[in-house]
Amino acid sequence: MRKEITRLGRRQFLRWASSAGAVAGAAPFILAHPPGSLTGHSGTEPARQSNHGSEVVPATAGDTGSGVIRLNANENPYGPSPAARRAIEQAITESNRYPIAEEVELIGVLAKKHDLSRDQVLPGCGSTELLRVAVAALASPGRLILAEPTYEDPIWYSRAFDIKAVKVPLDDQGAHDLPAMERAAEKDASLVYVCNPNNPTGVLADGKKLEAFVRRASKRATVLVDEAYHDYITDPRYASMVPLVAEGLPVVVTRTFSKIYGMAGLRLGYALSDKKTIERMAEHITFSGANMLAIHAGLASLGDRAFVKHCRKENGRAREDLQHALTERGYPVFQSQTNFVMFKLGSDVRELIADLKEEGIRIGRPFPPLTDHCRISLGTPEQMERFVEAFDRWRRAAAA
Ligand SMILES: Cc1ncc(COP(=O)(O)O)c(C=O)c1O
Repeated sequence: MRKEITRLGRRQFLRWASSAGAVAGAAPFILAHPPGSLTGHSGTEPARQSNHGSEVVPATAGDTGSGVIRLNANENPYGPSPAARRAIEQAITESNRYPIAEEVELIGVLAKKHDLSRDQVLPGCGSTELLRVAVAALASPGRLILAEPTYEDPIWYSRAFDIKAVKVPLDDQGAHDLPAMERAAEKDASLVYVCNPNNPTGVLADGKKLEAFVRRASKRATVLVDEAYHDYITDPRYASMVPLVAEGLPVVVTRTFSKIYGMAGLRLGYALSDKKTIERMAEHITFSGANMLAIHAGLASLGDRAFVKHCRKENGRAREDLQHALTERGYPVFQSQTNFVMFKLGSDVRELIADLKEEGIRIGRPFPPLTDHCRISLGTPEQMERFVEAFDRWRRAAAA
């Protein structure tokens, strides 16, 4: 058996995968785990927080059975799609195999979808993995520039390296302060992270302004634009930064199958960038981090337009209803373009989190410094109704 295993570097694999000869047939090798991929932990700071003790509810306490309502992790309550479910069932029998040819197929499909070449696509174990490898490959030496608050993963991953993170406060609309970020990027920036729309506020960066910012900032550093919530956006002022990748600028765009495709538990995401940047990132990626079931489900999901349409419609309705309910009750709400809504509670959100937990409703964690704000992920109409009722009870009790 051993003789059959030819060890190739990840870079070589990508070259092979992107070449004309790479078709969706069986590849004659498995990949070597890239050497030295996770070096540099300082030992003084925690690395990426594990799920132990986190606010994320373990699967054993999911909605089914215990009746817990999970409005805390921006998951899609309708997923995975019917087509993905069927694909998973069929792929179970292939789970004894490494998903080499499947990854090649996925790369090809994603390259076509985004009008890029195969060597500009890097799949991984959720887009989180791509954030980690982007930090590992691109942020050192230098400084990581990002908003505060924003999605925490790049900061968590930067702690394993000698990287100074520069946090730039959001503006009062909950949007990235792009001029301030540009000023921050003037000195020793290596990686600039823009989460668009931003998690936890849900607010979009204006497309034209973001494009101008990325064009200028990418002269100094790689710009990483996290488009996890891309498919939920309805505002015409939005612009994806994928066209700048097509132009060959040092820009990385990450996307995920966890949100609109409802595959958070399957773990599949990908990065798009220029060939050289993808190669640098690939040095740090986990071998076959995108697993057999996830790839089959992902490929099926891409073809299930009816499911995407349904989720977008339901999410839009829930978003509008919740924003309306909160505004009606006098709470300032950030204008979300995602599958979650953040509002100003006006008191320490930890109390609300704890009290709603007693009622079996999980809501978003605190996002310093906005600890008097509350983030609610959007669920089904019934779940949203349960939240609003419980919130009203809590308000009455707090006022008594
Ligand atoms: C902005 C952002 N990026 C990335 C992720 C992680 O996505 P994935 O499940 O693909 O790792 C999340 C998850 O909530 C997110 O909010």
